[in-house]
Amino acid sequence: MNPKTASSWVPPEASTVARETDSLIIFIANAGAILFVAVTLVSLYYLWKYRRTGEKPTFTSPISHNNRLEIIWTLIPTVLVFMIFFWGFRSYMDMRVVPANSMQIKVTGKKWFWAFDYPSGTNSVNELVVPVGKPIKALISSTDVIHSFYIPAFRIKMDAVPNRYTTVAFTPTEVGTYDIFCAEYCGTSHSGMIGKVHVKTEAEYKKWLEEAESGGKMAPAEFGAKLYVSKACATCHSIDGSANTGPTWKGIFGKKHKMADGSEVLVDENYIRQSILEPNAKVVAGYQPVMPTYQGLLKDKQIDALIEYIKTLK
Ligand code: CUA
Repeated sequence: MNPKTASSWVPPEASTVARETDSLIIFIANAGAILFVAVTLVSLYYLWKYRRTGEKPTFTSPISHNNRLEIIWTLIPTVLVFMIFFWGFRSYMDMRVVPANSMQIKVTGKKWFWAFDYPSGTNSVNELVVPVGKPIKALISSTDVIHSFYIPAFRIKMDAVPNRYTTVAFTPTEVGTYDIFCAEYCGTSHSGMIGKVHVKTEAEYKKWLEEAESGGKMAPAEFGAKLYVSKACATCHSIDGSANTGPTWKGIFGKKHKMADGSEVLVDENYIRQSILEPNAKVVAGYQPVMPTYQGLLKDKQIDALIEYIKTLK
C-alpha cells in the first residue's frame, strides 16, 4: 500500500487510469448525494406545508402542465447523463487504446496462478514487475478456464479467456507494491490466485530483470529457494512435510515414491525435471493430475536451481 494515496475510501491510486476512474466515481457519488438531499428536503417541506390543519381538507389549485418545470427536470438529468457518458467513455478509451510507446507484457491465467512474460524473454509468476511511468499493454489470455486479471490500485480488470486475447492499457504512476486478484470464480484455488505488482524505478526494473533471468551471483540452491516462491511452486508444494495440492518437497530427493499407476519411481534429477515440464507423465499416488506444465516458463538454469534447492530440503 502506498500511504500517499491510500485511504479508507478508495484503494491507492497507482495508475493514470485510477485518477480518472476515481474522479468520475466521486463526481457521481457527490451528484447523487446532492440530488438525494435536495429531493428529501423538498419532500419534507411539502409534507409539512400541506399537513392536515383543520377539519376540512384543503386542496391546491389543479395544475395540469408547467413548461418551466418540464424543461428543468428534463434538462438537468440529460446534461448529467451526457457528462457521465463522455467522461466514462474517455476513461474507457484510455484503457482500451494502447499508446504507441507502450511495453507489452503477456499475462497468462492458469489454474491457479498468473504468469507474466516480458519483452526481454524473462518471465515471472504471480509477481508482476513494471517500471514506473511506462505505458504498459497487458496482453491477456488463459490456458484453461476464464480468469479475470484485476489490479484494484490501477483500477483495471479484464477477463482472461482461453483461446483468445484481451488487452488493457495502463501507466503505473506510483512506485510501490499492489495486489493482483483473480476476479472470476475459476475453481478450487480461485481465492489463492493472488499476486503482487511491483512498480519499480527504471534502474531497479532493469536490475530485477537481470536477477530474475539468471539469479545474478546467487548459489543455485539459493536461487532455487527464490524461484520456489517467485514461480508459485509454494502455492501447491510445502517444504515442511505437510500435504497440499501437490506432494511436499521435504525429504523427497533420493527416495522412492509410489505413483498413481502403482509403479515406484526414484526421485532424482531427471524425475524432477520431467515433473516440472510434463507434470502428468508420472503422478504421485494420492494426488490429482492438476499441475500445469512449466514448459517455457522455466529456463534450464532455473530448473537446475530448483533441483539443487529440493536437494537441500532434508
Ligand atoms: Cu482464476 Cu479465479
